[in-house]
Amino acid sequence: MNHLIAPSILAADFGNLQRDVEMLNRSEADWIHVDIMDGVFVPNISYGFPVLDAVKKHAKKPLDVHLMIVDPDRYLKEFSEKGADGITVHFEACTHLHRTIQAIKELGCRSGVALNPHTPVAFLDDIIEDLDLVLIMSVNPGFGGQKFISNTYKKLHDLKALSKGRNDNLFIEVDGGVGDQNVKELVTAGANVLVAGNSVFSASDQSLAIKNLKNP
Ligand code: DX5
Ligand code: ZN
Repeated sequence: MNHLIAPSILAADFGNLQRDVEMLNRSEADWIHVDIMDGVFVPNISYGFPVLDAVKKHAKKPLDVHLMIVDPDRYLKEFSEKGADGITVHFEACTHLHRTIQAIKELGCRSGVALNPHTPVAFLDDIIEDLDLVLIMSVNPGFGGQKFISNTYKKLHDLKALSKGRNDNLFIEVDGGVGDQNVKELVTAGANVLVAGNSVFSASDQSLAIKNLKNP
């Protein structure tokens, strides 16, 4: 499978959100990554439902919602009703991860689990067959524009080994510090969805930045 690009609107210009979403519509972006932070699970608050509504109103591409929140079960239905195509919860925020994953699937959404940099891939051994997507955090969640953690390559290797023959259609997403400098190596290591915030939105030609990530 060719890798997908999911620009993160966390790095967009919120005063010109419609403009930026329309740029993504015209670009080679595959999904639009939507980062929800609650100020509890992560030390930052991003945005909530009104901004999601505004993105959804203009977006012509699937919304890839990344929940960096405690107790995500409380909000799954609302995210699905508001147009999320995929919902990713954090392993570290879910006491009953299997139940949460089933709930996401029952809502008709792609189900994902995100792992913080310190969380071993092996913790997914008993649930790997049930997942549509695993998101490997390549920075500590909470902020855009951070430095890529190179242990991510080892985790991609571990995840490829864990999912081989058990879930060969798994989306393997990498999030944080992704740009021209590491896209090739990440894809070679097995990533098939790349999230990019600052490397896209701080570029002078944003569509070109996406095109370059898509065709490294
Ligand atoms: C970080 C978020 C990321 C962030 C990536 O907690 O999950 O999706 O927007 O931003 P960059 O690409 O700038 O590291
Ligand atoms: Zn994210």
